[in-house]
Amino acid sequence: MKTNDLNVVIAGGGSTYTPGIVQAMISSRERFPFSSLTLYDIDEERNDDMFEIIGYMLEKEKLASEVTLFQTTEPQNAFPGADFIFSQIRVGGMKMREVDEKIPMKYGLVGQETCGLGGFSYGLRSIKGLLEIVSYVDQYAPNAWLLNYTNPETLVSEAVRRAFPDVKMLNACDMTISIEETIATNYGYDRKNWIPTYYGLNHFGWYSSIYDKSVDRDILPEILERLNQERLHVADFNAGDQTWQEAWDMLRLMTKNFPGYLPNNYLEYYLYPNRTIEHTDPSYTRANIVMDGREKNTKEMARKVREQEKGEILDFNFGEHGQYIMDMAVSILNDNHDRFMLIVPNKGAIPNLRDDAMVEVPSYVGRTGAEPISLRFAINDFHKGLMEAQNAAEKLLVDAYFEHSYQKALQAFTLNQTVYSADPAKQILDDFIEANGAYWPELN
Ligand code: NAD
Ligand code: G6P
Ligand code: MN
Repeated sequence: MKTNDLNVVIAGGGSTYTPGIVQAMISSRERFPFSSLTLYDIDEERNDDMFEIIGYMLEKEKLASEVTLFQTTEPQNAFPGADFIFSQIRVGGMKMREVDEKIPMKYGLVGQETCGLGGFSYGLRSIKGLLEIVSYVDQYAPNAWLLNYTNPETLVSEAVRRAFPDVKMLNACDMTISIEETIATNYGYDRKNWIPTYYGLNHFGWYSSIYDKSVDRDILPEILERLNQERLHVADFNAGDQTWQEAWDMLRLMTKNFPGYLPNNYLEYYLYPNRTIEHTDPSYTRANIVMDGREKNTKEMARKVREQEKGEILDFNFGEHGQYIMDMAVSILNDNHDRFMLIVPNKGAIPNLRDDAMVEVPSYVGRTGAEPISLRFAINDFHKGLMEAQNAAEKLLVDAYFEHSYQKALQAFTLNQTVYSADPAKQILDDFIEANGAYWPELN
């Protein structure tokens, strides 16, 4: 494997998260020596905005002569010669995210980007787009590593597992480090000392212990006690974001009612759909917040660069999001065997769960990819039951994608753990078929 002069491609180059990833690449350059960066996107305008912003960043860091920056909408120009590809596409953009969130809410169900039926709507769009990216990697850069952030992670990784079982790919979600970082900054811990044990499906899991090397014991019980006593505030990187404050408040409610484990905050959508619906405005959902915030902000940065404005132009903070995926790339390159939460085929990692479930568990990462740990204990019936039902729903949806099966899609929608009746499941499925049009596979 090449370890110098690396060529990096960002698929979904126009993503609002690109500056955070590039910032992490720049600060890791000694451990990750890259000499070219290609922004690949199907939206020329968004890609060009990002090209301006990233060009400005490289200039500012005095790297413009050492790193060649490219932009393209053509896969045959983007992927040949690539060593690492970071993928973060959003098929249908924020406009379709808004549709995903709002249609279920019309029928009194959870409307969310990755959870519930909104996540299933996004899933059928995203599988199509991400399989395309994987096929380009397979065709033009079969030795490259593909590090994927594209959501909904369990669905897309399940589809890739079936269609391209041998692709060199890691599927990661930043939510666990975001939870850990938020807890650490609130309660005065250093996350670098932690060896967490966590299991679940993506956005659907639990910490069962957090071993802290500085005190040589499991500190999860004391963290749960702190959560019981004190409100958890939004960390720096999400400062002022009311949606995240609501999420942390819901996390505390879950640890209060179901003690002993620290849940992923996204479980609120499955355990308390009534409450999440209550605190969501059906006419102004998270997609609207992001369009009016992060998206406008990115446009504004690009405008300032183009017009060569003076003063501070760069304005973003995504916390550890960029560094996390960068650290995985470094761990592959240097065969470090650092530990990350990854979405992988179960194959015994959770001993009492089906082998072919895509699960999220701690994994060591080196030159040959991910080596998931085995928990070596059986998970409890509450978690197991929830996961098995949700996993079956997700499997059925991916079946529906490959088999073009309306019946499987309806089963998936009905079984989704946010759904109480097959009536709204069918109505919402039919509305989504119409709203998604050609973004979805045809279902017969
Ligand atoms: P965004 O809409 O700002 O950016 C996505 C970009 O992808 C857009 O520029 C769009 O034009 C491009 N795109 C869409 N379809 C494409 C295709 N088929 N090929 C190439 N490019 C395509 O979205 P965002 O908020 O920046 O999020 C990007 C993705 O990252 C989403 O899937 C989001 O859910 C995911 N995400 C994941 C995590 C995680 O922890 N796993 C965290 C944050 C975001
Ligand atoms: C977390 C999750 C991601 C999700 C993101 C949404 O980072 O892990 O999977 O995409 O939140 O953030 P947004 O600001 O777009 O609502
Ligand atoms: Mn995630």
